[in-house]
Amino acid sequence: MSAYLSPATQYPSTNRAPFRVLVVDDVATNRVMLRAILAAHGYEVVEADCGEAALARLVELEFDAVILDVLMPGKSGFDVCREIRLELGFEFLPVIMLTSLGSPDDMAMGFESGATDFVTKPYNNVELVARVNSAVAQKRLTDRLDDTESVLFALARMVESKDRNTRDHCDRLSHMAVVFGRSLGLSFDELEALRRGGILHDIGKLGIPDGILLKEGPLTESEWLIMRQHPVIGAELCTPLRTMRKTVDIIRHHHEKWNGAGYPDGLSGTDVPLLARVFQVVDVFDALTTERPYKPAFPVDQTIDILERETADGNWDPDLMQRFLHILNDQPEQLQRPLGAPMDPSARILARVLQSGRPDWERG
Ligand code: C2E
Ligand code: SIN
Ligand code: SIN
Ligand code: FE
Repeated sequence: MSAYLSPATQYPSTNRAPFRVLVVDDVATNRVMLRAILAAHGYEVVEADCGEAALARLVELEFDAVILDVLMPGKSGFDVCREIRLELGFEFLPVIMLTSLGSPDDMAMGFESGATDFVTKPYNNVELVARVNSAVAQKRLTDRLDDTESVLFALARMVESKDRNTRDHCDRLSHMAVVFGRSLGLSFDELEALRRGGILHDIGKLGIPDGILLKEGPLTESEWLIMRQHPVIGAELCTPLRTMRKTVDIIRHHHEKWNGAGYPDGLSGTDVPLLARVFQVVDVFDALTTERPYKPAFPVDQTIDILERETADGNWDPDLMQRFLHILNDQPEQLQRPLGAPMDPSARILARVLQSGRPDWERG
C-alpha cells in the first residue's frame, strides 16, 4: 500500500490512466473477487476493509469510482457515503453501493446518503463492470465542472487563510452547519449546500482590501460600506454555476437579520432563506468563539449570553437559535469535527503553498 503514497501520485492530473477504483468490503474474499473482475477490465484497484480505511485512502489518492458494501462492522456503507459527500466534499466521485437483493429501504437510504448507483448482491459480473464503466465515464464529464468549482473553493480558502487564525475554520463551519442541518431534518441537497456554504460564504472578502479586512480596531462607516459588499460579491462569483443555486442563497443572505436590520437586502423573518438563517447561527457562534483580527476568542458561556441577547434583540431566528443552543447544551461533542479528520484536497494543496511562501504570522 505504501507504494501508492509517493508524492508524485498524490495529485495526479485528471487525465491519467488507468481508472482507479476503491473497493470497500469487510470480507476479504469479496474484495479479491471484485479486484479480479475489475483488473481484468483494466482498472487499478485499491482495497479497504472498513469505512475508516476507505476514508483514509480517499484522502491519500485520487479515485475514479468507489464500490461500497452497505453492511460492514463499524461505519456502514451509508455512513461512509455521507462522509465522502459531506465531510470530504467529493461531490462528483461515483459511489456504487452493493446492497442485498430486494431491499427498497437500502435504495432510499443510499440516495439520501448521496450514492450514485446500486448493484444488488449476488451481482452479475458483466452488469457490475458496465455500471463501473458508465460511472467513470460520467466522472470524466463532470471533472471539468469540478475544476471550475475547485478554483472557487481554493479562492475561498485563500481568503480564509488571511482572515482567520486557524486553518481549518471553513471545515469546522461546514461540519457544524451540516450537524445542525441534520438535526433539523433537512434534505441531502440542503446539507450539501450548507457544507459548501461553510467554505464559500465569505469568498466575497476577496474583494475587500486588506487594510479593512485585517484592521485590528472597529471599522469606520465608510469601511463598513465596503465590508457589507462581501455577500454581494460572493454571490455574483458563484451564481454562474448551476450547482450553486442553494449555496448562493447562503452566500448572499448570511448577514441578513430576523428583524430586517441586516444586509445586503434587509430581508426579515422567513423572507431570509432558511439555509441562510441556519447557517448564520453557526457562523456567528464560530466568530464569537474564535479569535479574529479585530477581536479575541470569547469563552462559550459569554458567547451564549451574546447569542441570547442578540436573539432577544431580534437579530436571529429565535426558533433556530433555541434548537442550536440545545445541541450546544446537550451534545456539544457533536459540533466538534473529529480530531485529525482529514482535510479535503483543496485544503491540503493550499496548506502546502502557504507553508512554502507565506510570512510567519500565517504559519502559526
Ligand atoms: P466575521 O469575523 O466572520 O464575523 C461574522 C459575524 O459574526 C459578524 O457579522 C457578527 O454578526 C458576528 N460577530 C463577530 N464578532 C463579533 C463580536 O465581537 N461581537 C458580536 N456581538 N458579534 C460578532 P458582521 O458584524 O456583519 O461582520 C461581517 C464581517 O465584517 C466580519 O466577519 C469581519 O470580517 C468584518 N468585521 C466586523 N466587525 C469588524 C471590526 O470591528 N473590525 C474589522 N477589522 N472587521 C470587522
Ligand atoms: C465587534 O463587536 O467588534 C464587531 C462585530 C459586530 O459588529 O457585531
Ligand atoms: C467540491 O465540493 O467539489 C470541492 C470541495 C473542496 O475542495 O473543498
Ligand atoms: Fe460574512
